[in-house]
Amino acid sequence: MNTETHVSNRWSNKYAYILAATGAAVGLGNLWKFPYIMGENGGGAFVLVYLLCILFIGIPVMMAEVAIGKRGRSTPANAAAMVSKESGHSSHWSIIGSMGVLAGYLILSFYVVIAGWAVAYVLYGATGEFSAAAADAETHADTIGSLFGNLVSSVPNLLIYTTLIVVAVVYVLSKGVKDGLETAVTYLMPAMFVLLVAIMIYSAIVGDFAAAFGFMFNIDFSKLTIEGVLVALGHAFFTLSLASGIMMVYGAYLPKGVSIAKTSIMIAIADTVVALIAGLAIYPIVFAHGLEPSAGPGLLFQALPIAFGSMPMGDVVGTLFFVMVVFAAFTSAIALLESAAAYLVERQGMSRAKASIVAGVGIWLLSLLTIFSLSGESWTLLPFMGEGKTIFDGLDYLTANILLPLGGLLISVFVGWFMKDELVKAEFNLSDGQHKLVMVLLRFVAPIAIIFVFINAIGLF
Ligand code: PHE
Ligand code: NA
Repeated sequence: MNTETHVSNRWSNKYAYILAATGAAVGLGNLWKFPYIMGENGGGAFVLVYLLCILFIGIPVMMAEVAIGKRGRSTPANAAAMVSKESGHSSHWSIIGSMGVLAGYLILSFYVVIAGWAVAYVLYGATGEFSAAAADAETHADTIGSLFGNLVSSVPNLLIYTTLIVVAVVYVLSKGVKDGLETAVTYLMPAMFVLLVAIMIYSAIVGDFAAAFGFMFNIDFSKLTIEGVLVALGHAFFTLSLASGIMMVYGAYLPKGVSIAKTSIMIAIADTVVALIAGLAIYPIVFAHGLEPSAGPGLLFQALPIAFGSMPMGDVVGTLFFVMVVFAAFTSAIALLESAAAYLVERQGMSRAKASIVAGVGIWLLSLLTIFSLSGESWTLLPFMGEGKTIFDGLDYLTANILLPLGGLLISVFVGWFMKDELVKAEFNLSDGQHKLVMVLLRFVAPIAIIFVFINAIGLF
């Protein structure tokens, strides 16, 4: 098997790839999820473990995934099977790809709901809700809190916003109007970054920056549980869009001569910086207004609007901010649907348009699980999930804490131990020393760390 192409699309150049991969990476994971899981898991020590996971596990696994996609030049399951056969092993390794597509699909089912929240917040900003809530300083935080509470407890509202997002994602993907979107994102991503930094500076001035900084960077291991370590590990995969098929799909479109290592490092740095800045923007407000760091999934939506309410032109800034959250979420959602649609095109022979629609209808139906579980009091699903856990919690746990780490484990083992060394060498194209280092991470560090965390957190022993 040589590079006979099943996938004939190519990124036009290295920058198109970096842009798309960064667009997929930077999303709700950075702005919404990272800040609240950091709060739920005690801050500093969690951040440290998360950063170590990105560096020693996330980056090598991203390289491995891109290499499989690029060598296989096909959708995830086929690419993995092809590379495996080419290396003299069974095609069962296609599981890496199919598991990833499944994980990505389940992620998308709640991702569109949260993206819908951001759409609602664009409207709140535009209609002056943030500044209105600030009218009474005493009740400011509570008023913002009930804005959020009312949104997530209203099935009709959630349905409308979620449907909007699903339709838009399907439309963009089926029409292949990605080019236009990519151009938009070229400007919006830097704009979002600048706005986020500006909001961080504002929060630092009016909020309690010292408390926020201390919370995020004072390392106190007594606050970290093994469960928290698993969350950090899972989030490293989630935030870099790993083990969900996407990086294999994107790798398959990669032109020759692009450095997999360099681009992976750049994507990881961009993603990490955005997450840390989001934390530094949110926490000064959290501490200044007596909110709970462990407030959960509502944190972003309950903290920042307080700042918008009190800042000059806050409704405008707030509206702009949530527009950018929607865009950041949108580029990730497109990547997620892309992996499912590509699967349907290749496996079922559907046209691109039909595959996007079919995948989109499925996502809309699956999103109902999250919508109803958010608004219903307690949709306790499985016995092991414990009291008060919802289907949304279950989907999050299953994907981020089980499927993604498991996928990452299989990917690192496959490329570390099974993929023919000369193929890996050719794809990574590193100096001998660097190659050895990455291989040590893929062969030993990543698998051992993942297994160790799994066994302890899930309590197998
Ligand atoms: N990386 C995205 C984020 O941080 C989420 C995502 C996960 C996107 C998996 C694609 C695949 O928001
Ligand atoms: Na991310």
